[in-house]
Parts: sequence; structure tokens; C-alpha cells
Amino acid sequence: MRDLAKQSVNTLEAARQLRLALNELERNPSAYRNSEAAALYVRAALGSLTSQAVQQSARGKQSPIVPPIKQSELDTLILNPLPFDTSAAERFDPVQLALDLIRLVNGSGGIVEQTYLYLDEPSAADWLSVCSTESFTESYRKTRPVGAVAAEVAQLVGELPLDINALGPGDGKSEVALIGQLRDLLPVSEMRLHLLDISHSLLVAACNLAVRTFQDRHINVLALCGDFHKLHLYEPLLAGANAHTRRRLYTLLGYTLSNLDNELGFFDSLAACTAPGDLCLVDLQTAVASPDQPDEIKAKDSLFNTAPPRAYADWLTGPIRRYGGDVLEVTLEQELCTECSVPGSYEINLIAHVELVTGQRKGFVVGRFKRHDPTRLAEALRARGWSVESVRLYGEPTGKGAALMLLRRAPA
Ligand SMILES: C[S@@+](CC[C@H](N)C(=O)[O-])C[C@H]1O[C@@H](n2cnc3c(N)ncnc32)[C@H](O)[C@@H]1O
Repeated sequence: MRDLAKQSVNTLEAARQLRLALNELERNPSAYRNSEAAALYVRAALGSLTSQAVQQSARGKQSPIVPPIKQSELDTLILNPLPFDTSAAERFDPVQLALDLIRLVNGSGGIVEQTYLYLDEPSAADWLSVCSTESFTESYRKTRPVGAVAAEVAQLVGELPLDINALGPGDGKSEVALIGQLRDLLPVSEMRLHLLDISHSLLVAACNLAVRTFQDRHINVLALCGDFHKLHLYEPLLAGANAHTRRRLYTLLGYTLSNLDNELGFFDSLAACTAPGDLCLVDLQTAVASPDQPDEIKAKDSLFNTAPPRAYADWLTGPIRRYGGDVLEVTLEQELCTECSVPGSYEINLIAHVELVTGQRKGFVVGRFKRHDPTRLAEALRARGWSVESVRLYGEPTGKGAALMLLRRAPA
């Protein structure tokens, strides 16, 4: 346990150093106009701390399961878990992610994959502001049929102890609401909650909320700072040796699925980590019209009818404004794309048009918002080995079309 605490402190210290470095870059942007200089500064700030933490992690000593966390211990129990048996290229490397982002926004344009929208603390703070906007809470969270889906999950889980693997929990409110229902239906003593988020700050927020909410019920909580595109790296999240002795419920809530570049690929990777019978709960936003009716989509989809609210615009453009050199102005525009891999779906991309002080212009896709036809998505997922247990439509009072979909890994 002492070893574990020591490794965690090193990882935490590395995260603190990164935070300080990024703060410094923000405070003094003119000194780091050149992206290479900025990158070097972040690297130097992290120095040996990161490699020390990674080397210790790579020795693979820590126990995957952590006992219930006391409030005062939270900071030291956020783990950046060890990649085991993996090549260096596969490792989760938050510093490299930060450097890639800086390089990207200083390049000639491109796609900011959604992972990069949560990396630094200002991004996490902006995301928390989005979560607290009325439209987000009222239309997305309050109307989600969590009680009904929890009852269904409890029935499918039966007698097996449950691991809830929350992928990208953000502020944790969606996931905690779900577990609040589940804990009245299933024995909690053997329930484990694994939180996996790319953002250290959001992970702390979610972990704090979970511990505060469930402190009287002894749910084991493990917080992992990592990348859900590399799920196979995180042993506690894999069926592995527990394939037949525990059931796993993976959650991807908050419409994260709608933001992914390749949602079918995500389910393929997830399938490789699960055992038959494991469950996955996702929410999604529904299509207002068929992709072959672009005019109808533009007329009916609320993302086209109104400019993105201020909180969204700040969040989406934040990385460009903070790390892009010589940025004069950033404006957002919606673009419809109807050539998507899931039949019946379309996506609305938010393009950031960037004007530099030199007059140069460039563009980045900073937001990807997919809309699915739940029936067609279910067909695509069935063909990939997922059985669709239920689809619950919701969000009607405010006109938002959303669906909560419960999937089960089919026998091979
Ligand atoms: C749209 S938010 C959803 C948050 C929350 N589940 C909710 O219901 O509001 C996406 C979350 O996924 C996390 N995330 C994004 N990309 C990730 C990645 N590649 N690996 C792990 N977490 C990621 C973000 O930090 C954020 O917490």
C-alpha cells in the first residue's frame, strides 16, 4: 500500500508540474509563441518526474483494486495505471497529448479529436460550465430514464457482483445518478466503481462526488487517469480472469458516443475487453431526419438554428485561443456531413475559423456532434456482436431528441 501511495504521489506531482507549465504558457504566451519552444518548456517542467513515475508504474507493482477512499486521501489515489505488456508507443502519455495539441493548433488546420477538449484545467473548467447550463441539465440530465434502465440492468446482472466501468465520467453526475438507483437494487458490498477519464481535474470531480455520495455504502472506487481509446491497457476494466465471476457494466454517458470519430470502432475495441453477458449503457442524440434530407435536417436540428451557446463556444475554442500563436479571432460555423459510417446517421461539425494577426486564415474541426437513428445503429451493433436489450427515447420536454441504449455482449 505504501508503494502504491508513493507511485501515486509521483504521478500526481507530474500532473501538478504539467498544470504549472500550462499555466505559465497561458500567463506568458508571447514568450512561447513558437510551438516548439512551448513544447520544450512543458517537457522541461515535467523533467524526470514523469519518467520516474512511468518507470515505477511499468514495474507493475500496484494492486488493481483500492479499498474505499477517504475524502482526505483522494489526491493521492488518482492513478495513472501502468500499461502492462505493452510497447512504448501504446502507453498513455498525457504530456505527449499536450504537446500534440500544441503542435496541432499551431499547424495549418485539421481536426481536434474530442479527447483534446478536456486535457488542461481551463478546458475542464469550461466543460463544467457547459454542464451547469440550464439547457444541458434540463434537457439532457433530468429527463434521462435512469430508474427504468437501472431496474433492467439489475435484472440482467442477477446474482453476480457488479463492476461499473464509467468511461469519461466528467463531473460524475450522470454516473452517480445511475449508481444511486442500482445500489437499491443490487448488493453494494461487492460493487466496484471504476472511473476512467483523460482529464485529471474531471476525474477528481467525479471521484469526489462518488465518494461523498456513497460514503455510507462502502462502494469500492478506483479512479484511473487514462484514455478510453486504449481500454485494453487498464486491467481493472477488463473481463480477464473475472469473466465468469463478475459482471461488468460499461457506461459512456453525456453523449460522448456522438462526439467520437469512429463509434463502431469504439464498440469493436470494447468488445475485445468484455465477456459475453457484459453490459454497455450509452446515450445518444437522435436524428431529426434522414441523411438524404439535408434541407430538412438544417431546418429542424437545433444546432443549425441557433449559434452555439457561449459556454460551448468557450469550451470548444479554448485550446486554440490558449495555445495557438498569434491568434486574432476565432469564429464558429456549423457544417453538415451526411456521409457517415452508421446508416441513418449524420454529423454536424463545428468548424473554428481562425484568423491570425498576420492575416493568415485556417480552420479546425473542433466539435463533432453525431445524430443517430437508434434502430439503424442497433442493427449495426448487432452485426458486431452486441445485442440491443432496450432503447429508451427521452428529452422531449425541451425538444431534444435523445435515447438511452442498453447493450449486452452476445456469446461469441
Ligand atoms: C461529453 S463528456 C461526458 C461526461 C459525463 N459522462 C456526463 O454524462 O456528463 C466526455 C467525458 O469523457 C472524457 N474523455 C474524453 N475523451 C476521453 C478519452 N480519450 N479517454 C478517457 N476519457 C475521455 C472527458 O474528459 C469527459 O469527462
